[in-house]
Amino acid sequence: MKSRIPYTRPSITELEVGYATDAARNGWGEHCYDYINRLEARFRDYLGVSHAIATSSCTGALHLGLAALGIGPGDEVILADTNWVASVAPAVHLGATPVFVDILADSWCLDPARVEAAITPRTKAILAVHLYGNLCELDALLDIGRRHGVPVIEDAADAIGSIYHGRRAGSLGVFGGFSFHGTKTVTTGERGMFVTNDAALHEKVLTLSNHGRARGQTRQFWPDLVGYKYKMSNIQAALGCGQLERIDELQARKRQILTRYRELLAGCTGVSLNPEPPGTVNGAWMPTVVFAPATGVRREHAQAAFAGENIDARVFFHPLSSLSMFGAHAGAGLAADIAGRAINLPSFHDMSDEDQVCVANVIRGLLGE
Ligand SMILES: Cc1ncc(COP(=O)(O)O)c(C=O)c1O
Repeated sequence: MKSRIPYTRPSITELEVGYATDAARNGWGEHCYDYINRLEARFRDYLGVSHAIATSSCTGALHLGLAALGIGPGDEVILADTNWVASVAPAVHLGATPVFVDILADSWCLDPARVEAAITPRTKAILAVHLYGNLCELDALLDIGRRHGVPVIEDAADAIGSIYHGRRAGSLGVFGGFSFHGTKTVTTGERGMFVTNDAALHEKVLTLSNHGRARGQTRQFWPDLVGYKYKMSNIQAALGCGQLERIDELQARKRQILTRYRELLAGCTGVSLNPEPPGTVNGAWMPTVVFAPATGVRREHAQAAFAGENIDARVFFHPLSSLSMFGAHAGAGLAADIAGRAINLPSFHDMSDEDQVCVANVIRGLLGE
């Protein structure tokens, strides 16, 4: 059996190990926030935003932000039907109603026309998820948000390194959330980041993330409201500081892998990969191939072919509307259609060119080439 080609694996060097070791040895007492403060400052600079708060996860960042916006029972939150459940869970936890809309054929992200059609007086947020690093059509979504008085939130869990007309993904909405899960381009094992340019929202999230204890509160151990405990540890932040120092290298490698897949599949008809429209940069977190209907290649064929070569290919997200808790609708839209003929490809930092050739050969085999 050939050795396994995993779909992701972090790149951890002596730099990260050194920082994490230092945090474990010395990052206590008065130094227990040193790496957290450093990571937040570096992330702010990298993203070009005014505020960043290290969180328990991207899910936690979204939960805090939605709570700070006051979203609750009776409110509706619009998001794409194609998504991981993490994007919708915070709205559900807050008692809001998710409204799923179909995706665009090329980016697999929110279709702005359908977003506008889905707006009601109860709409309290549009959640723009930059799926797999692909960018949502932010100009159109921000315009819809402005015209209807609805905030646009960016779920940039997958989109570190993606750039929309000169501005980094996650920095354009009322707030953004990032994931540092072990599969992501930048990892702290788990955890994430909340970012915003809104000082008042930042203050609210800071309070909510620390069990409702406001910064200005002078009484010790005095929460002003029931909040959350969605924080990052100093040791995890130390890992993140090392990763952020290497962000250009980590990012460039992701893009290089996507570019190489493009080259290897250039002659194939009936396959498309993550798009990169003019004026944008795709952070390329998760190279994904979609087979055209005419090829007849289904997700199940692809899964079996990759498994046969010991390659870890991951299914494209099922439509959220097809899950039992959201009604188990069969789904006639692109979200269901594309999921049935798409697959995520391996893209870890240290993969070899030979690994990529193996992956491309499986795709060629599926196409009968
Ligand atoms: C689009 C998207 N949003 C949110 C998340 C959740 O991130 P986390 O695991 O950090 O909560 C993920 C996780 O992969 C994701 O892909």
